[in-house]
Amino acid sequence: MSSSLIAQQFQVTYSYVVHFTRSLFDPANPLLADVLARDGGTGPRRILCVLDAGVASACPQLAAAIGAYATAHAHLVQLAGPVQVVPGGEDCKNQPALVQQLLEAVNHYNLDRHAYLAVVGGGAVLDLAGYVAATAHRGVRLLRVPTTVLAQNDSGIGVKNSINAFGKKNFLGTFAPPYAVFNDKDFLLTLTDRDWRGGMAEAVKVALIKDGEFFAFLEAQAAQLAARDLGAMRTLIYRCAELHLQHIAGADPFEQGSSRPLDFGHWAAHKLEQLSSYRLRHGEAVAIGIALDAAYSHLQGHLPAEALHRILNVLHALGFALHTPEMDQHLADANHADSLLHGLQEFREHLGGQLTIMLLAGLGQGLEVHAVDAPHMAAAGRYLRHYQRTHTASRPLLQSA
Ligand SMILES: NC(=O)c1ccc[n+]([C@@H]2O[C@H](COP(=O)([O-])OP(=O)(O)OC[C@H]3O[C@@H](n4cnc5c(N)ncnc54)[C@H](O)[C@@H]3O)[C@@H](O)[C@H]2O)c1
Ligand SMILES: [Zn+2]
Repeated sequence: MSSSLIAQQFQVTYSYVVHFTRSLFDPANPLLADVLARDGGTGPRRILCVLDAGVASACPQLAAAIGAYATAHAHLVQLAGPVQVVPGGEDCKNQPALVQQLLEAVNHYNLDRHAYLAVVGGGAVLDLAGYVAATAHRGVRLLRVPTTVLAQNDSGIGVKNSINAFGKKNFLGTFAPPYAVFNDKDFLLTLTDRDWRGGMAEAVKVALIKDGEFFAFLEAQAAQLAARDLGAMRTLIYRCAELHLQHIAGADPFEQGSSRPLDFGHWAAHKLEQLSSYRLRHGEAVAIGIALDAAYSHLQGHLPAEALHRILNVLHALGFALHTPEMDQHLADANHADSLLHGLQEFREHLGGQLTIMLLAGLGQGLEVHAVDAPHMAAAGRYLRHYQRTHTASRPLLQSA
């Protein structure tokens, strides 16, 4: 039998800029208009805005300000339709009707591939609207304006979008880099303490796997950060975003391998979010996931006790709880769908390939492993329960575990 083939190969280069600014929609701030002016188009650019309802109620003047911005820069900015307000928070990713509603708006207001969907909101709304932008016409341009710490330093600056389905987080989604990102520090002022705090877990995460000096900064500034010092937070967001972007550019941006270093602490985090029916915010769950995998790293002999204690103490000083009752369900039974350990299997299924979990070999040094010892992981969970009760990390770990 004869056979033949045609081999096909091409590369696509992506680039986008994450801008740091304040008062993005103040007509006196030319940044947004300047970015649009450089897109190679002519005439006013058509933009449909999607706004997180939580942001809209925290900044009641925002929708009007967006309109005023368009009026002031009418040669470059044309609002294609009224601002689309959608509910904020994780629940928006659980509602397929919202995807439909936004797709209908893209259709109704005739957005094409050179038009923009500009989304202003927390990570959940960015994920939802990003999914819509990526799938309508196979991709309209996406401008992200992240409004939480987590969205500004992590979720809003990367290349992914998603909604939840079949009870699983991020089951539907695409890899689709944004056209541009605008981190506006004014939005941080209206965050609740919970949402101010949440994103700092991602900074601890990236510091622990990549940058010991950044970890030391977080340790030194923990009290100021917890007390809502905006200057310290700006430094945190900038460095975290920088490390995150370097990682995406350097390795495997569309996650075709089985390894996902930036998901340190996340196998447990995603499962805890689900087990808590999303009572835990992503960042809160990530803080616990980091603590758990750090404690486990120590139990496996990779991480010195002193480093573990510094990690737990920083997370505590930032205001995170490091244990939640959901962790104790079916503690060491990896096969039970409601056990935390089942999250390992779900994590592997989400990525495909061999199970690959990031652990720590030091502060700023990750270490990948391909198997997890269930009794040791359960012991790490029990240790966190002890830590949460006493807030002391000084007891010898194996003794308390
Ligand atoms: N795409 C990715 O790569 C990626 C990465 C990490 C996390 N995520 C996703 O991000 C989501 C979490 O995002 P989040 O932590 O930003 O929380 P969130 O989007 O759930 O928002 C939390 C709450 O804050 C409100 N809010 C947002 N900005 C505000 C502001 N400036 N002032 C007042 N209230 C405001 C929202 O309305 C919401 O009620 C999760 O769904 C997670 O899966 C995505
Ligand atoms: Zn995360």
